[in-house]
Amino acid sequence: MLLLTPRARLRRLLRPGAPSPLEGRTVLVTGASSGIGEATALEAAGRGATVLLVARRSVELDRVREQIVAAGGTAASYVCDLTDLDAIDALVARVLDEHGGVDYLVNNAGRSIRRSLDLSYDRFHDVERTMAINYFGPVRLTMGLLPAMRAQGFGQVVNILSWGVQLKAPKFSAYLASKTALDTWSRIAAREAYGDNVTFTNMRFGLVRTAMVAPTEEYDGLRAMSPERAAEHVVRALEDRPVVWNVPVGVAGEVLGFVSPRLVDAVMHRLDRRTKNSAAAIGR
Ligand SMILES: NC(=O)c1ccc[n+]([C@@H]2O[C@H](COP(=O)([O-])OP(=O)(O)OC[C@H]3O[C@@H](n4cnc5c(N)ncnc54)[C@H](OP(=O)(O)O)[C@@H]3O)[C@@H](O)[C@H]2O)c1
Repeated sequence: MLLLTPRARLRRLLRPGAPSPLEGRTVLVTGASSGIGEATALEAAGRGATVLLVARRSVELDRVREQIVAAGGTAASYVCDLTDLDAIDALVARVLDEHGGVDYLVNNAGRSIRRSLDLSYDRFHDVERTMAINYFGPVRLTMGLLPAMRAQGFGQVVNILSWGVQLKAPKFSAYLASKTALDTWSRIAAREAYGDNVTFTNMRFGLVRTAMVAPTEEYDGLRAMSPERAAEHVVRALEDRPVVWNVPVGVAGEVLGFVSPRLVDAVMHRLDRRTKNSAAAIGR
């Protein structure tokens, strides 16, 4: 579900076949070594953007970069562990030096943990790990790149979040709290940066078939979006700059949770009892 800005709606109406606004612009994608990030990098490069690929696995980043270059696009890869705040500062310094800043930032790198609370009492590091990569990392990176965006009078930041921030699904307390933190931080940043033409889009995805969900046996056979389809939505959000992008189930869950929170607690509790922790979550 896409809430377009009036300007984007007008652009589509008046110039349906117009070139992408990404053409000739710089797009930094974190977590570009696989899944949604990789597919987004390829899609953005296909629209004429210079794509900066960020993740830890250099071999995978080089594979994606080579694929972009072979197709006639432009890309550069930057190895960075986004849980290391000093490494993020060094990345920002390098990107500013080599490119003068970025026009579009996709905060996509992330980590999901699906584990019930009763298996988590002695695992506070689950909370720390999810906050490190899903909240502190993207906030540090955004804060590093934001001054140049504001100075140039243009910027668009897309955060890859989850419908779980609306559904508040059991077994995901650490993961969804970290995604919700970024969701809220960005909404407030958007209000402060509004006058400098810097916008933020929070994308709350449902299930996407990537390496991240592979360890969860409960998802086998469930309907899931392909990473390529997800990437089309991400690039559309880069171009059109909506405030938020949701899937209908997420919106329904949010409304129900607002109208009848105790009832939703009861339903979610039943669902929780019917679904198991994965072998990976149990530690097998
Ligand atoms: N799949 C879903 O159903 C789903 C649903 C909603 C939201 N999401 C979100 O979508 C995003 C992408 O996930 P995905 O599904 O595409 O899974 P994925 O294929 O496992 O991709 C995760 C990416 O994050 C990068 N990453 C992880 N830790 C990192 C670190 N410390 N530093 C730098 N990069 C790091 C990984 O690269 P390296 O390992 O090379 O560092 C990888 O490129 C995540 O934020 C996830 O929470 C996924």
